[in-house]
Formats: sequence, structure tokens, C-alpha cells
Amino acid sequence: MSREIMQERIKQAEIETEKKKAAVQAGKMRQHYHFMPRIGWLNDPNGLIYYKGKYHFFYQHNPYSGFWDCMHWGHAVSEDLLHWEHLPLALAPSEEYDDYRKGGCFSGSAIEHDGKLFLMYTAAANHGAGNLQTQCIAYSEDGIHFEKYGGNPVILPPEGVPGHFFRDPKIWKHDGRYYMVCGAGRDDRAQALLYRSDDMLHWEYVNVLAESRGEWGYMWECPDFYPLEDQYVLTCSPMGAGDRKAVYFVGDFDYGTGRFDWTVSGEIDWGMDFYAPQSFLTPDGRRLIAAWANEWEYMPFWKDWGPTYREGWCGFFNLLREVRMLPDHTLQFMPAAELKALRTDAYSLDRLDIGGNAEGLRAGDGVSFEMQMKVDLEKTTAERIELDLRCGEGRKTRCTFDFAKGTMSVDRSGSDGWSAGKSESVLFLKGKKELDIHVFSDQSSVEIFADRYQNNHANNVYAGDSQNGIRIRAVGGNAVIRDYQSYGLKDCVR
Ligand code: FRU
Repeated sequence: MSREIMQERIKQAEIETEKKKAAVQAGKMRQHYHFMPRIGWLNDPNGLIYYKGKYHFFYQHNPYSGFWDCMHWGHAVSEDLLHWEHLPLALAPSEEYDDYRKGGCFSGSAIEHDGKLFLMYTAAANHGAGNLQTQCIAYSEDGIHFEKYGGNPVILPPEGVPGHFFRDPKIWKHDGRYYMVCGAGRDDRAQALLYRSDDMLHWEYVNVLAESRGEWGYMWECPDFYPLEDQYVLTCSPMGAGDRKAVYFVGDFDYGTGRFDWTVSGEIDWGMDFYAPQSFLTPDGRRLIAAWANEWEYMPFWKDWGPTYREGWCGFFNLLREVRMLPDHTLQFMPAAELKALRTDAYSLDRLDIGGNAEGLRAGDGVSFEMQMKVDLEKTTAERIELDLRCGEGRKTRCTFDFAKGTMSVDRSGSDGWSAGKSESVLFLKGKKELDIHVFSDQSSVEIFADRYQNNHANNVYAGDSQNGIRIRAVGGNAVIRDYQSYGLKDCVR
């Protein structure tokens, strides 16, 4: 019976999508090359996996409005990570344990088991005593149509963990067994809890894999855990950790005790719009991450989710990034190599000398483009460099590299008549000869990577097509730019 309820709800969502998708796709704020839903709301990436020759992306989705409500799982497949075929929704709320308007099928992950595609997701319900989050299983033979397991839920919140702080399971396989890390919060301390299973259906609790002592927040959303070179990496989005939205830890992991001992930590992105990253492996062994390009209303910089709801949609993923490790075990997050296939209209300059007068820069159509440069720090005397993106109609998004203060910032007050706020991070250049900068601009976002892809800012900017100017200037001295390269980027998702 309940199987029919889910099928019926998926059908309803498809009817809604078919009805609205042409109008939504005509929206002026739609992205050109970032993954986004056909209609409605999107938040976290879920269940990212390469399965039987295709990449599958699932995502937190409300097909009925441009706002968060009653979570379903959207689903799309791709062979190149650029062009997507949207499929019917994979999961819809249908059971006692997930049929709740202010809950539903929350975030989770995917894995291949017994030739089938298995999903583990958080079911969020409320039976009158507050939110109850439990972990549930669904599976599919064809990778398109899913069925929820009759024995759900497979994991209940452990003692001491409140029902509303137990979610977002990420599964992996090691030495023939399945492991899962789940976000939790106990006594005001965030935790990543470790579970183990032999058959994907019966799970035993192993240990607290890692925890905050308060300094990393009170609840970790969307934890992810994976090996990289000879280390393990834990990532999560901490609630209650100030400006931090997506952080990483690198260290050693002991499968015997289930404890992770980290020695290095850092930020994946300091921008206002980067949350809940999830990783997956490509067939050639690269670790890529996707994230939701927005944030929640309780976070310090939040203004709102942007004006795209007026066009009947809201939410897209940040650019896919590859995770790499430097010898000191800090991580780099570089735009995925796949994006190079979108390049067109190449332009380059060996050297550019800039002073107090703003110079115009050429990059594609000034809206959908990629731009790379290096600041020669030995030849630069300026106190700071101001790089203005999406300029026009008296508006701009200003990215400042301030050598005197040692900061990088992206200011979007005055960027589009809607957005506000300034993201800021420490720019640590001591002993370095150059500062590398890599910018990706799309219709409604700018993502700026700097200093070896370790200082990154993703910010949404809802600027119109006439805001297509790019300017750069040096303040308090001169600056020398080398190896300037730019490209237009072709549409692949419209
Ligand atoms: C993170 C998150 C998850 C939850 C989901 C609900 O953005 O809050 O913790 O599973 O979104 O949509």
C-alpha cells in the first residue's frame, strides 16, 4: 500500500514539473552551467555516485514551490558531469516515519550493493513529541525506480542524542563491510557517529568517530568521510560555528576503535553560499565534491535565499571541485577538470601592469566566464587590489585582495539591488612569490578561488545581463599581473 503512496506522490510531482518547467526554464536568473532543478526548491546534494556507467545526482527537493518544504529526493543522471538528464523523483514522503510536511526524506547517500543501487536517507517525522530523525534504506534494480525497505527505520537515535539532531548518513565500503557516518549533537557538542553493517540492512553502532568540544559547533550536518592518499578526511557543515559553513579535518583513522584523530583543519569555502558538500569518486579515482550554493536562515550572513523564487525555482549546486592534498596535509578544492570542455573564446595576456586607474578586463561575455591570473608579489607594491565583477548600472561585486591587512573579501552590497553582505578570510602570503586567482562567473553566482585553491569564496549575485563589465585596479601602489587567461563558458544546463 505505502509503495503505491510513494509512486502516486512521485507521479504528482512529475505532473507539476511538466506543467511548469517551460516557464521556469525561461527565467532570466537561471544558471548557464551550474546544476539546478527543473522547477522548485533544491538544497543539499544527496547520493552522488557513479553507477553502471553514469553519474547519478540526487538532491533535497521541493517541487511545489521555490521554498523549503516537505523534502523529496530529486534525481538526474549524466555521462560527463555537465549535461544532465532529469529523471522522475527518487523518493517522496509516504510512510509513518517520513510523511511529515516539515520533514520528509532528508539528506543521505548512495552505494552499490548486490548489483542494486542502495540509498540511505534520514526520515524526518513528528509524532507529536518533536522531530524524530531515523535512518532508512531504499533500493532500486534499475537505478531509477526506488522502493523503501519494509524493515525501516534501520537506525534510531542513540541514547542521549535528541531526535532532531541525528541525520545525514554517508555510507562507504571497506574490506567487504559497510560503514556509515551520521551527523549528531549531544549536550551542545557536535558529533560524527560511526555505524557498521555486513548487509546494508542491519547496523551496529561502533563509536563517536569525531566530536566538537564546542569550538566546532553543536551539531554537524552532512558529514562525509573518505580516504585521501594515506590520510582520512572528515568534512561537515557545523551548526553554531560562526561564519564557518563547510569545514574539513585531516588525520588518521583506526577501523579497530572507530576513532578519527585529526591534526589539520580548515575551511572548504568562506563564501556566503557553500553548504553541505558531499563527495563521490570518479572512475579515474578523483574525489569530487558538490555543495548547495546557499545557506540557512539561522546563519550569521543570511539575508534570504535570493530572488529566484519569483521565477519558480531556488537553488543550485556550486561548481564541482576536486579535493587534493598538499604535503602539509592541508586541502585544495579545485574546479573539476570536466569544466574545461565548456571553454570558448580564449583570451590571454602575458603581463598586465595596473595602477590607480581601473583597467577593463576581457572574459567571455562578462556574465558566463572563467578567468585566471597570477599577482607577481615580488613586483607588486600596492596595498590592495580590487577586482570588480559583474559591473554595470552603477553596481558591482568587489573582490579585494588586501596585502596590508592580510585579507581577501568579496563584497556584494551594491551588487544587484538584492544581495547583501561581505565574506572575508585571512590571506596568508608570507614567503610566497605569487598569488593565483581563479574566477568562475555564471548568471547568478561568482566563485573565486585564490592562493592554491585554499582560500575560496562562493557567493550568489543576481545581476542582470547588462552587468557584464570586469575591472581591476591597484590601490596604494602598482601591481603586476602575469599569465592572465580568460574564457567564455558554453551553456550546458539551460
Ligand atoms: C542541511 C540539512 C540537512 C538535512 C536537510 C534537510 O542543509 O539541514 O541536515 O538533512 O538539510 O533538507
